Amino acid sequence: MTDMTDQVALVTGGGRGIGAAISRRLAGHGMRVAIGYSNSPDAAKQIADEYQGCTVHQGDIGSKEDCQRVVDEVMEQHERIDVLVNNAGITADRMMHKMEPDDWDRVIQVNLSGAFYLSRLVYTHMSERGSGRIVNISSVIGEQGNMGQANYAAAKSGLFGLTMSLAQEAATKGVTVNCVAPGYIETDMVAGVPEKVLDKIISGIPMRRLGQPDEVARVVEFLADPDSAYITGQVYSINGGLAM
Ligand code: CAA
Repeated sequence: MTDMTDQVALVTGGGRGIGAAISRRLAGHGMRVAIGYSNSPDAAKQIADEYQGCTVHQGDIGSKEDCQRVVDEVMEQHERIDVLVNNAGITADRMMHKMEPDDWDRVIQVNLSGAFYLSRLVYTHMSERGSGRIVNISSVIGEQGNMGQANYAAAKSGLFGLTMSLAQEAATKGVTVNCVAPGYIETDMVAGVPEKVLDKIISGIPMRRLGQPDEVARVVEFLADPDSAYITGQVYSINGGLAM
């Protein structure tokens, strides 16, 4: 890995699950990581305490105003953002005929619109400097769909379109934009899946196991590297063979 000591990363949802593993990987390379969180300050602060130069930032990524405030805060404290990882995500699983429009709106707002708001704000700064890395955390659900996840699947598929479009706009500006699509990873989100359903899901994964957050984080770390300069508009699937 290239030395990333002077660099700054903003990782949304960076205190828990996959986001925590990403924050740790990047901070482990000496990056100052601005760890975004919405409801769990303790987890975010714990990581920030472990690594020098890391900071925590509260905000609802589904809110334009909060996104602006978080970016302003990070710029004020760190003066630059080299890497943006749009990782924050929520689920509100229901069979579609039972899904309330509010469940739809909220999941799209956080998982898709939030990535747009932040990318838009950070991209301006990155393109002016002529370098940057944006990594969007999608999901195997965006590749395949899933029973009970019409909202989540639509948002995660939407991230593919967002990634490819911004990647084309950013290609001559030194900014790369890529997607990582994790499968079922051992996090609180997956722990919320009913046991009977989860057993069925795991039996359909060729590796017959859940992934670990760090198995996703190592790919994000690779994409965040300044040397990964010729990779853009791509989707990296990390799913134990679930989707090939
Ligand atoms: N695969 C196969 N069968 C499934 C299924 C799935 N993914 N999801 C539901 N079913 C089946 C159930 O087993 C059940 O079958 P039986 O009637 O034969 O028992 C039938 O569909 C109806 O399901 P429920 O009785 O559970 O219906 P419900 O309305 O009470 O609940 C639900 C529906 C809320 C969608 C619930 O089934 C559920 O939470 N499913 C899990 C959804 C899921 O996979 N979420 C992934 C979260 S992790 C994540 O999103 C991270 C990521 O990126 C991968």
